[in-house]
Amino acid sequence: MKQLWYKKYRPKTLDGFVFVDDHIKSKIEEWVEHKEFPHLLLAGPPGTGKTTLAYILVNECDFEDVDVKYIAASVSKGIDTIRDEIITFVERSSFGEMGRVVILDEVDETTPAFMTALRNLIGEMYDSCRFILTANYPHKIISPLKSRLHTITFNTLDKDSFVARVYEILTKERVQCDADTLLEYVERYYPDMRRTINALEHNTVQGVLKAESKEATEDDPDWMKEAIVYFEQGMIKEARNKIVSNITDNLYDDFYKMLYKNLHWFSKSEDGQDAALLTIRKAYVDDTVVANREIVLSSCLVQLSKISKKMG
Ligand SMILES: Nc1ncnc2c1ncn2[C@@H]1O[C@H](COP(=O)(O)OP(=O)(O)OP(=O)(O)O)[C@@H](O)[C@H]1O
Ligand SMILES: [Mg+2]
Repeated sequence: MKQLWYKKYRPKTLDGFVFVDDHIKSKIEEWVEHKEFPHLLLAGPPGTGKTTLAYILVNECDFEDVDVKYIAASVSKGIDTIRDEIITFVERSSFGEMGRVVILDEVDETTPAFMTALRNLIGEMYDSCRFILTANYPHKIISPLKSRLHTITFNTLDKDSFVARVYEILTKERVQCDADTLLEYVERYYPDMRRTINALEHNTVQGVLKAESKEATEDDPDWMKEAIVYFEQGMIKEARNKIVSNITDNLYDDFYKMLYKNLHWFSKSEDGQDAALLTIRKAYVDDTVVANREIVLSSCLVQLSKISKKMG
């Protein structure tokens, strides 16, 4: 299967990564040089490189793969995750010289109880394990946890480097483009690099970058808005038909995130919402490993519709 550009061009080293500014760049370079960094909170809007930087640090600081634990905190937000996944991982002995790292992605989606348990754990763990947390909304994170973390905020990215990076991607893909057209994309989507790259890929036709049509710049396409209305009215089968026949590769990620955030579409009871969450979580994980994403999405929606009927 063809890899989407934004995945293909996710930098694995500091080379190619666009920093917020020179000050932060120097700080991160220093961490990489000394292979040492504090517990981190990488905070800011979508598509600005938070998860990418977490992996770059792990890679550049030579952690062994087995010493790195990635947890999508928005999915595994139950307090048992702390005990079953994090403590178990942190307590076993490390394979490499560098110790261990836990990446907790999207930690702002967890509960205060989860954050309190995490705070206690992080407080005890400086010698053997580093934590890298990411969040879109850092104000949702409880202060005692934040005070144990060094925060880097990604509200902006260095604009010249941003333009240079997307231009580099277009050059590698041998796309012809004129500067004004490229800058229009940057003005529209900056600082979201993922969205910029997606829009460039989407609008490159036979090796030439076209200007984006007005219709395509709307936040959600019409079919998505219609599907949301169906979901809200409990018409999950209708929503499924709308989505499966329209969805494109670059929208799957956002779509699963939207489902997580709207568990009430599938059930009003806590048990029903838990069941929906587990279904979505499984599909989200499967989505990254299967060749046919549509089948996974489709079966996820069938399952959600059953939950809604049974536990609605
Ligand atoms: N600062 C950056 N430098 C270089 N590439 C970037 C940067 N930010 C984003 N990208 C590109 O965008 C893609 C998405 O970035 P990433 O997943 O790190 O964003 P994020 O900040 O974690 O977003 P989200 O909040 O949605 O999780 C990367 O694969 C990469 O191609
Ligand atoms: Mg991320």
